[in-house]
Amino acid sequence: MVVKDRGGVLGLFVLVILLGFVKNGEALAHAHTLLINCGTNENVTLDGAQWVGDSAPNKNITISTSHTIEAAISSIDGNPAYESLYRTARIFSEPLNYTIHGAPGNYFLRLHFYPFKILNFDPDQSYFGVETCCFTLASSLNVPYAISQKNAHASGRNSSFIALVKEYYIPVQTNSTVITFLPDKGSFGFINAIEIVQVFDKLFVDSVKQVGGNGADVGLDLQNRGIETMYRLNIGGTMIKRDQDSSFRRKWEEDWSYMINPDAGTQLRNTSRITYASPNDTSLAPLVVYETAKTMTNITLVVMRFFNMSWRLPVDPSFDYLIRLHFCELVYDKSSQRIFRIYVNNKTAAENVDIFTKAGGRDKAYHEDYVDAMTSNSNNLWVQLGPEAASIDQGSDAALNGLEIFKLSRDGNLGYVPNLGDESNGKSNVRFWLGIVFGIVAIAGIGWLIICVCKKKRTKDVKGKKSCGRSGKRFTLADLKAATNNFDDSLVIGVGGFGKVYKGELNDGILAAIKRSNPQSQQGLLEFETEIELLSKLRHRHLVSMIGFCDEQNEMILIYEYMSNGTLRSHLFGGDLPSLSWKQRLEICIGAARGLYYLHTGSEGGIIHRDVKTTNILLDGRFVAKMSDFGLSKSGPSLEHTHVSTAVKGSFGYLDPEYFMKQRLTAKSDVYSFGVVMFEVVCARAVINSSLPLEQINLAEWAMVCQKKGILETIIDPSLRGNYSPKSLKSFAEIAEKCLADEGVARPTMGELLCHLEYALQLQDSWLNPNDAG
Ligand SMILES: *[C@@H]1O[C@H](CO)[C@@H](O)[C@H](O)[C@H]1NC(C)=O
Ligand SMILES: *[C@@H]1O[C@H](CO)[C@@H](O)[C@H](O)[C@H]1NC(C)=O
Repeated sequence: MVVKDRGGVLGLFVLVILLGFVKNGEALAHAHTLLINCGTNENVTLDGAQWVGDSAPNKNITISTSHTIEAAISSIDGNPAYESLYRTARIFSEPLNYTIHGAPGNYFLRLHFYPFKILNFDPDQSYFGVETCCFTLASSLNVPYAISQKNAHASGRNSSFIALVKEYYIPVQTNSTVITFLPDKGSFGFINAIEIVQVFDKLFVDSVKQVGGNGADVGLDLQNRGIETMYRLNIGGTMIKRDQDSSFRRKWEEDWSYMINPDAGTQLRNTSRITYASPNDTSLAPLVVYETAKTMTNITLVVMRFFNMSWRLPVDPSFDYLIRLHFCELVYDKSSQRIFRIYVNNKTAAENVDIFTKAGGRDKAYHEDYVDAMTSNSNNLWVQLGPEAASIDQGSDAALNGLEIFKLSRDGNLGYVPNLGDESNGKSNVRFWLGIVFGIVAIAGIGWLIICVCKKKRTKDVKGKKSCGRSGKRFTLADLKAATNNFDDSLVIGVGGFGKVYKGELNDGILAAIKRSNPQSQQGLLEFETEIELLSKLRHRHLVSMIGFCDEQNEMILIYEYMSNGTLRSHLFGGDLPSLSWKQRLEICIGAARGLYYLHTGSEGGIIHRDVKTTNILLDGRFVAKMSDFGLSKSGPSLEHTHVSTAVKGSFGYLDPEYFMKQRLTAKSDVYSFGVVMFEVVCARAVINSSLPLEQINLAEWAMVCQKKGILETIIDPSLRGNYSPKSLKSFAEIAEKCLADEGVARPTMGELLCHLEYALQLQDSWLNPNDAG
């Protein structure tokens, strides 16, 4: 609901200079690198390198400037690292040629696009191609104002205002190369910056292993092929900026957003003494790429190590792709400690991979290349690493340090147009140029006026929206400070990734649980507001109800009814509270199940809790069970395992393996977790207890083993002994077992579960009062 002020796009000092000359000039300081700042005669210095204005005299570049304009704005939206570079662009409505003078050889060519709105220039309407003598680099390229994450190949950013940087690796056979920018018919295009880096080293070899080819090599004919970089990921590490990769100014992104299940990989880091396995490899990737890796998360406790680490990377169909994996063994000092398989597009690329052996030791940086063709209907390239054997042996682990995906040209073409036959590509050419001409005259005078009006209007909109459609009670920050003794730590009754929960007394004397998100919380204000909206609609006897909220001064505070008996878990083990009777446990399970049943099927429908566990089942003064922590933002981190990223929300030990493996979230994932809760209720022990022998660590696994052998009674809470109906327990255990079925479809629904629980309660009641039977 909060509209971000975009910092005055329209106003600004606009410098638009129509021009038309060709220029030549002096030599560049960096012999092998040419950095061009488009649409200006000014040089800028960034990353310690100089970007020369394309209209300043320069003997390395010649440009054709008819039908182009130089456009500059004083500040731009977003906050790109290269702000001073991206403030200018060259806009063209006819073919624009950049002739680069230099020696034949292999070059990295990078094109930077950072769209800004100026006059009538709407980048959303621009479509253009890019060509060199021998290759089509891009076709009908459209770089909309707010670039989507997918287009930008950028990860970990919000989706707007990312520079699109397209990188190519091309062979050049002559002393000068012409790069032509070609607007689509009736449209126009723009370019902000160009980088040309000559590469003397051999970055690619012609003969590469074919995926699914049993180790056989294929020739790639790279002398005649252009290459486009699609992805360059520093696996398990942070972004490596261009100035940190001194050889070729390559940017390495984080990988997590491409992982199907980020929880599957654990970060590994080791900065000691890494060297290149081969002296020929020193420019393939900077050593810092090899310092971090991802290995398979040690979740043997949950599902054994029978899964893959998988990355899914959107690519264009119908091209050949070169897949380069960078490896370095960072942990083991001998071979056979880590043996795995590499799959590309669900086919085996390599088996029995042992990095230590292949690289010739520990801390040796090396890489493997594979090639695979994407079919015409697949636009995701999959890279997966998994163990050779489904065991928990030491050898069954995989690791990856870096990943690059390159697209290879087909018949000289690297361009791809997703929607052929879409006729609606930018057509407003005449209007655009007319607009420019009038705009130039008018803008200087009215620029500031426009900006003022826009700003005012926006402020109004924001206010209007904020005050409506709210149902929970809004508290002031002052109220809550008073209620919690200024958020006194002695009143904290719970802590998690989201922040802290305080016990507080509201001014009407009512006790409340006050949950305050910490400022670093990943949750945004917008999500918070959505959440309040939802929570205030969810009312049920077995759900902890929200009393109100506070969003003053960017605070995100929720106020819930206070549950005086705390969590179910605290009554099961690990404390000195009196133990619960079997009947009480059944009633609590029934209450919690009713709450979940309401979430799954109630009027707001289809809400999956995602984090069912005994610390989220709270008990009021009369031991009535209520579910808490429901409906919470999907993106918020969950409690207790903040060390693991949370694309899969849920707590280890309770986590549905099907959800974990397939990312398929259904109400049956809650049912699985509820099954674990049921065994916890019977056995009164932690769901993960790593001090126990291996087979007993994970309660869900261990209880299932005992249940299947019919010896569950040997592991139940000793305080229950003699105080329960064996029939009731048996029926309870049978249904818990069904909840833990591997496949969601085989598990009962919450409604079915509820019936069975009520039946188990009946059995217990008639055991307690045999005379009532009748
Ligand atoms: C590979 O398998 C995944 C998951 O089963 C599937 O979604 C994907 O489409 C497959 N990819 C290819 C290229 O066949
Ligand atoms: C890993 O991925 C490959 C290729 O998609 C698949 O055939 C294999 O079954 C997966 N392994 C596991 C353990 O899921």
